[in-house]
Amino acid sequence: MDQQPTAAGEIILQVDNLGKHYNGVSAVAGISFAVRAGECFGLLGPNGAGKTSAIRMIYGFAPPSSGSLRVFSLDVADDWRRIRSRVGVCQQDNTLDPDLSVLQNLLIFAGYFQIPADQARERAEELLHFFALEKKREAKVGELSGGLARRLTLARALINDPELIILDEPTTGLDPQSRHLLWEKLHALRARGKTFILTTHYMEEAAQLCDRLVIMDHGRILIEGAPTGLIEAHVGSSIIEVSGADQELVDFLAERKVEFDRMADRLVIYNKGNAEIEQAVRAGFHSRQCTFRSATLEDVFLRLTGRELRE
Ligand SMILES: Nc1ncnc2c1ncn2[C@@H]1O[C@H](COP(=O)(O)OP(=O)(O)OP(=O)(O)O)[C@@H](O)[C@H]1O
Ligand SMILES: [Mg+2]
Repeated sequence: MDQQPTAAGEIILQVDNLGKHYNGVSAVAGISFAVRAGECFGLLGPNGAGKTSAIRMIYGFAPPSSGSLRVFSLDVADDWRRIRSRVGVCQQDNTLDPDLSVLQNLLIFAGYFQIPADQARERAEELLHFFALEKKREAKVGELSGGLARRLTLARALINDPELIILDEPTTGLDPQSRHLLWEKLHALRARGKTFILTTHYMEEAAQLCDRLVIMDHGRILIEGAPTGLIEAHVGSSIIEVSGADQELVDFLAERKVEFDRMADRLVIYNKGNAEIEQAVRAGFHSRQCTFRSATLEDVFLRLTGRELRE
């Protein structure tokens, strides 16, 4: 092979002004970002934000309508065949073959990469072990639970030992046990220097796994940064929630220029670690139900993308 493995820190994905239109409707409206080798990079956003459309272009499944896309310094439009062998993909939808066994699904996929049969077998066994699927080796995929099928999809994405692993909602629908197992596996793969692009609706997952992330909405990137930096910058470190808040509290906060969101049943106050405000709310409004808690990525997400339902 004429390719050099990527060095840690090297840019391996460069997205410039990438756009995707479906029948004139813009799903991705000119996004730009770069991912370095060894990073876990998250794409977050409400339903319909354009995450899947963006990553389908990155793994060469759909041609961009505009902009450019370089993976391993190669142009996706010209060099997809060379890129493909170094990328692993777990799509949002289940694309396993339901009539084949767990093992056959892995072996057939290995065939697409021209991996020799004995090597494919060895690799498949390793992956079955890694994802705790050995006992299901001969089971038909159509008979697997959703969680097992997801684990197999991830195993399949790794059959070619890819450097870049693209995961579209890898843990959606999984129970907490399976989700934690997958997080453990993703951490182990990161320790081996793999690079990840990940979409998820679980903010805790994004905060835990991603070095950097973007929050998208309506095809555009709203913010980019490290989870802790984004929390600090957009909502501050601490939050006060007050149930049954009344006009008196609203006026009190407005006078002191403290930011807050007003919900039907409560106020979410972004007091940015201001001890005086916290003290005043405790003392003056203790008859309401007050919760004092750390701010999370979910607060940032809701603050930026709003609380209305999407598609
Ligand atoms: N093949 C397609 N043809 C037409 N419109 C599409 C197609 N695929 C996606 N869209 C539209 O593009 C927009 C972005 O969809 P996309 O699937 O990229 O969102 P997403 O962020 O992945 O959402 P989710 O969180 O629900 O998976 C949506 O309005 C969707 O309806
Ligand atoms: Mg999607």
